[in-house]
Amino acid sequence: MSETNDDYILEVRNLCRKFGSRKILTDVSFKLKRGEILIIMGGSGCGKSTLLRHIIGSLKPDSGEIFIGGQEITKLDDRGMAKVRKRFGMLFQTGALFNSLTVGDNVALPILESSDVSSSIAELVVKLKLELVGLTGFEHLKPAEISGGMKKRVGLARALALDPELLFCDEPTAGLDPVMTSVIDTLTVDLTKKLGLSAVVVTHDMTSAFRIGTQMIMLFEGRVIAQGTPEEIRNNPDPILRQFINGDADGPIPLKLSKDDYLKRLMQVE
Ligand SMILES: Nc1ncnc2c1ncn2[C@@H]1O[C@H](COP(=O)(O)OP(=O)(O)OP(=O)(O)O)[C@@H](O)[C@H]1O
Ligand SMILES: [Mg+2]
Repeated sequence: MSETNDDYILEVRNLCRKFGSRKILTDVSFKLKRGEILIIMGGSGCGKSTLLRHIIGSLKPDSGEIFIGGQEITKLDDRGMAKVRKRFGMLFQTGALFNSLTVGDNVALPILESSDVSSSIAELVVKLKLELVGLTGFEHLKPAEISGGMKKRVGLARALALDPELLFCDEPTAGLDPVMTSVIDTLTVDLTKKLGLSAVVVTHDMTSAFRIGTQMIMLFEGRVIAQGTPEEIRNNPDPILRQFINGDADGPIPLKLSKDDYLKRLMQVE
């Protein structure tokens, strides 16, 4: 059977973005089929989070197009984008939980902000979402009272609050031990299967990437240098990709940041 555009939940076409005179994303193109988990990998500073920020509409590209469920989003105004946002959930690299709110209130926030539901219905939904991520009964704690892995799971529950079709996760396992990494990975795979979601996951963790990905792209200096199934990526001879996957110190990936990059990185605000 031939593929139709409806088979794809996300498509990025020739995306380009500069910050000042620096090219951060150059001609980035890829497609994601419904039900798949796409891994975006690449070294620190290669543009992964910037790419995600464009896909969720918080940054606008210089050129290129992004289709979510067939709808082009780069030219939408705030109202149009707010509608599209209901279709996806995002787990941010820093967790982005509000420390002054309880776990339950953090998860309830997107529900109360974007629909007319009563607080008792929201409470019920929060319970369900926390149950999905294995945190039943934790709603009254504050983020400071739970572990890093639990915070990621609360972030995941919040990302799932509005029953999205598409889930974005930026470094969901960064800073977690191997067991908690495995818990989050299993949860991501289970949830996509159970809830019929598609997901885009940014990660440096190659064990995680090959454990959960059904499609992968490798970014290098803002360009896609390889894409394919995990099997195709494993067999791809590109030297930069090989060095990244094997974690070799020697190879074509430059190690030094320019002073300019270093200062920019220091000033970067999530
Ligand atoms: N708002 C901004 N203004 C200027 N430069 C920026 C801005 N946001 C990101 N950059 C620069 O864009 C480049 C890519 O940053 P980005 O955060 O996308 O990298 P990343 O691949 O997510 O890195 P990491 O793995 O460390 O999270 C970096 O050099 C960064 O300094
Ligand atoms: Mg990042």
